[in-house]
Amino acid sequence: MTGLLRMESVTAGYAADIDILRKLTLSVPAGQITGLIGLNGAGKSTLMKTICGFLRAKAGTITFDGADITAIEPHTLVSRGIWYIPQESSLFPYLSVEHNLRLPLETLVRGSAGLGRAAAEQRFDEVLTEFPALRAKLKSQAGDLSGGQQKMLEFAKAHAVRPRLCLIDEPSIGLAPKIAGEVYRWIDVFSGTGMGILLVDHNVRRVVKMAGYIYVLSLGEISAEGRRTDFEGDLHEQVKAWLGVNF
Ligand SMILES: Nc1ncnc2c1ncn2[C@@H]1O[C@H](COP(=O)(O)OP(=O)(O)OP(=O)(O)O)[C@@H](O)[C@H]1O
Ligand SMILES: [Mg+2]
Repeated sequence: MTGLLRMESVTAGYAADIDILRKLTLSVPAGQITGLIGLNGAGKSTLMKTICGFLRAKAGTITFDGADITAIEPHTLVSRGIWYIPQESSLFPYLSVEHNLRLPLETLVRGSAGLGRAAAEQRFDEVLTEFPALRAKLKSQAGDLSGGQQKMLEFAKAHAVRPRLCLIDEPSIGLAPKIAGEVYRWIDVFSGTGMGILLVDHNVRRVVKMAGYIYVLSLGEISAEGRRTDFEGDLHEQVKAWLGVNF
């Protein structure tokens, strides 16, 4: 299967002698949500860090839009059109909300992406229209926002950048249901614009509902994969058994 992003037989780990991801093959197409589910410690976040180049693949290849990005430098992600919303915060807590929002746009203006300054300014205004709660907090330190507001700022940054691929790791963790609903709505909006999305979420039921294609990661290997409809049959039972969850 082709895809916007493709991992081909990728092996990666933090220590030379311990592989966390083992010969992992996965595709993320454009304009669709691809779900990744697995138990705690299965390697879901490690997979995203490997795509972003925070962790070097020991073997295998990663391609984005046909280009080899196996050894990508993380600081080049934004200009290539890849955005990562990590499980932990990516905000600068001591910088203002405005500064946090402007930083990625500035990277696009200065980098090879070729975004004009006027266009960046327009995007900044648009984002504040889409995320009105942030407008009132522009001068606040990002670290002083509530957990829900911080997550909204993460999504506002992604919205400003308009990547072609967005990796989203556990976006709803610790959030009130109303904010979690907002987060999922934004993920749908993003994919509706043609963005490719790789979504990791402990809420298996939600992933199966939103994703067009789902991978199950067990101890660093893809143990099952399929379309949403496949999960309604046998695979559904298997995944339930493997993950020990009901969905
Ligand atoms: N920085 C690190 N150094 C060494 N080992 C790590 C590091 N980060 C994660 N690991 C190990 O890699 C394995 C996979 O961790 P990872 O965080 O990718 O799992 P996960 O599927 O994202 O889990 P969770 O659902 O809890 O977020 C675990 O055994 C973990 O202890
Ligand atoms: Mg994780």
